[in-house]
Amino acid sequence: MMKPDAPLASVEIDEVSGTVLLRTTHSAYVVRVDRAAGMVRHVHWGAPLPLADAVMLPVWSEHDNSFAGRWDGVEEYPVDGGARFGVPALEVRFADGSSPLEPTVLEVDRRADDHVVVRLRDRTRPLAWFLHYRVPADGDVLERWTEFQHTGTDADGDILLLRYASAHWPLPHRPAWRAGSVHGGWCSEGRLERSVLPVGETVIGSRRGHTGHHANPWIALDAGEADEEHGEAWLVALATSGTWRLTAQHTAAGRAGVVAGEGHEGIELRLAPGASHRTPVSLALHTGHGLGQASRGFHHYLRTHVLPHPEELRPVLYNSWEATSFEVSEDNQLVLARRAADLGAELFVLDDGWFRGRDDDRAGLGDWTPHPERFPRGLRPLADEVHRLGMAFGLWVEPEMVNADSGLFRSHPDWVLHLPDRTPTELRNQLVLDFSRPEVTEWALAWLREVVAENAVDFLKWDFNRAFTEAGVHTAGPDARRVHVEHARGLYRVLDHLRTDFPHLRIEACAGGGGRVDAGILARTDQVWTSDNTDAVDRLTIQHGFSQLYPAGVMSAWVTDSPNPLTGRVVPLRFRFHSAMAGVLGIGGNLTRWTDTELAEAAELVRVYKDIRPVVQQGCQYRLLAPGEGPLAAVQYVSEDGGRAVVLVWRSNTAFGPPLPPLRLRGLDGEARYRCEETGLAWSGATLSGFGLPLPDLPPGDCASTLVRLRRVEEADSRA
Ligand code: GLA
Repeated sequence: MMKPDAPLASVEIDEVSGTVLLRTTHSAYVVRVDRAAGMVRHVHWGAPLPLADAVMLPVWSEHDNSFAGRWDGVEEYPVDGGARFGVPALEVRFADGSSPLEPTVLEVDRRADDHVVVRLRDRTRPLAWFLHYRVPADGDVLERWTEFQHTGTDADGDILLLRYASAHWPLPHRPAWRAGSVHGGWCSEGRLERSVLPVGETVIGSRRGHTGHHANPWIALDAGEADEEHGEAWLVALATSGTWRLTAQHTAAGRAGVVAGEGHEGIELRLAPGASHRTPVSLALHTGHGLGQASRGFHHYLRTHVLPHPEELRPVLYNSWEATSFEVSEDNQLVLARRAADLGAELFVLDDGWFRGRDDDRAGLGDWTPHPERFPRGLRPLADEVHRLGMAFGLWVEPEMVNADSGLFRSHPDWVLHLPDRTPTELRNQLVLDFSRPEVTEWALAWLREVVAENAVDFLKWDFNRAFTEAGVHTAGPDARRVHVEHARGLYRVLDHLRTDFPHLRIEACAGGGGRVDAGILARTDQVWTSDNTDAVDRLTIQHGFSQLYPAGVMSAWVTDSPNPLTGRVVPLRFRFHSAMAGVLGIGGNLTRWTDTELAEAAELVRVYKDIRPVVQQGCQYRLLAPGEGPLAAVQYVSEDGGRAVVLVWRSNTAFGPPLPPLRLRGLDGEARYRCEETGLAWSGATLSGFGLPLPDLPPGDCASTLVRLRRVEEADSRA
């Protein structure tokens, strides 16, 4: 039994055995610092246990013969060196060309109640590395990162870091392992896949310089038995927006582990004498209560410890991109702004096309002054009118990019990622500015400050529309490709400065849709554009994948026109709204083409969204029925205080027309009663989760949906 007065999250250390117990709200992580062997052994990650037990736990090793890697699987932070043959978290090349490391433990430094650092160094070579562990209060997510220090002098030469992971997360022995992660591409982000983790190494990552549409920096592992509500699950993520790699290992003996770090093969970091490097944070949690709880644990962590303003409700926005594309002008934006305000939008965002030379995607990026023909009076009159209409004013920018056809490129051709003898690859007709260079980030910060201040901008949609190519710095020498990790650091600096200078400014991260969604960018933005695919049916799948790690309160989702411009699918307005109401609702259709009936229905749905918004954006999310697995998809949200619940149900097609079974709800108090605002009927929480919520009839045909609101009521009231 844990002592009842035990702190909710803490670091406990037993000096004699060298055991360190990291205690989260519902789990324990145990390591043992073995000074004699010069290593930090992994002992346990899973169910909570007291320090007295942690001290006695044996370190389980699968290797007891001379053919094996003696330390593989049992080390906290495996290095390349000695009898280790698994994936190293740290691999280097010293100036003399040699690599093997021989770790020795320097000290265990307890920084605070929630933070411990294990300091190691090589026995003879000038490299030290510090393993940081932090246990944030109130939750189950652990934070780990590593710092490297060149402790030598010029005589030692530089050290090249070949692999420099934030953490290795060792998992226990199980009869089988399954891995879950998301995959996709532009307009198809977040497609969840769970499959057997084969024995060997499974790598997901990005070589693109940004997080990527095609994968996202997290992986969920379970023994093949977990479902939404039951079973043990481990979730590992990386808070980075540059190039990254997660390697899951599964040994023949049944152990697993995840090495999580920025960079990829061939992206090396040079450490000069006296220099140090700090990795991004890797985040991980264990739960005994299923994959849904793993996601809720992360949502809670991101809201409590990462997002700049978790307490704020995100506004209903209108964005003009799908309505006017590049053809924006003061006049047509004003027409849209008035209509958006009538619908109840709270933020109007002027998308691409507003700046000099930007008549299409072939020119203009880099020249951030208003387009003289489209906005002859500048942007301020539009911004003022948007404000007068009662909305905030937002603006699209893509500060890390440049078109070759632009004033900026003509004056600073050397600012882009390029190599002198390689053909520059243009994607979307643009090149990438090197944000690892201070003169480039200073330029960006200067014009952003000016544009935000001069136009009273309240919100930026910050885009990033292509991956890196020719991403070396030809003058940099052996670590020419470090821009793959340094660019994102430059971006973070710009965002951090901008937020300090304009505390009211809110930012949406976008990268051709969801190409830069990660815990690193979420520390300095307020929401993310989930996907350029706004088809309400496709979105259910994309949103399902998104929700595995990220909360609905940052998931921007627009209602656009039907037929959908990308897929051609015809979807009723109500379904389109219900799909987008599962996140941060926005509207992105061409409102000049919506009929009066549609506008009236839309205004009513916006009103309903504002009512449910605190529950959706700040509540706990339960994925009741996954899209594609049956006739229905359904998501439920329960408010933080448990007083309200919202259920969204979608039937994308009517295959075989079965009657709808009751929908079993989650996260309710079995003893309490809840009144359904739509039917007026009150049910006990036990009935709603045991028998299920009887669903109203859905309209016939494909793409039918419904929204149910439940409010906890007093006993007397429920009998009335
Ligand atoms: C990207 C974004 C879109 C839009 C365009 C503008 O594709 O994801 O939403 O802003 O750029 O060029």
